Amino acid sequence: MSILQSIHSYWAYIVLGVLVFAILNAFIGRFSNKPFTIKDLRISLFALIVTHIQLLIGLILYFVSPRFSAWQEGMGAVMGDSTLRLYLVEHPITNILAVVLITMGWSMHKRQAESGKRFMRIGLFYLLGLVLLLSRIPWSEWP
Ligand code: HEM
Repeated sequence: MSILQSIHSYWAYIVLGVLVFAILNAFIGRFSNKPFTIKDLRISLFALIVTHIQLLIGLILYFVSPRFSAWQEGMGAVMGDSTLRLYLVEHPITNILAVVLITMGWSMHKRQAESGKRFMRIGLFYLLGLVLLLSRIPWSEWP
């Protein structure tokens, strides 16, 4: 396993852990009618940054991974092999979409003045992103 692959593999624990924490924090804040404080802002921002770092590591890993050379055999070869399709198509596309959703939640919460609405934007969009991430993790190889 290359160094980058190990980093991407270990960083995934941090991403999933921090996302779950931020989502719970947002729903607890919303349903106990708490004010959205600087602490909540920091937790949500931390989850956003950790996820974006994973996205960057993933993008680099994609092009240096030995699996990438499978594209030389053509689209049919990649799409016809479920493992290659997962690593080269489904995992990257779904996870990029997940990061877009998480980023949207972050941007939308900033435009809200009410604490409840801020918590909900973070909670819902981060949760949607997390569900997408979990749907395309190579569970046969990880953890
Ligand atoms: C942002 C959230 C992401 C998470 C939580 C995540 C998580 C993971 C996990 C858990 C693995 C399995 C590691 C292992 O087998 O030890 C993996 C593999 C991989 N990921 Fe991601 N990933 C993310 C984003 C991305 C993106 C955006 C790309 C590419 C554009 C990408 C490319 C890859 C590749 C190429 C592998 C396979 C490495 C190999 O074994 O050759 N990942 N990812």
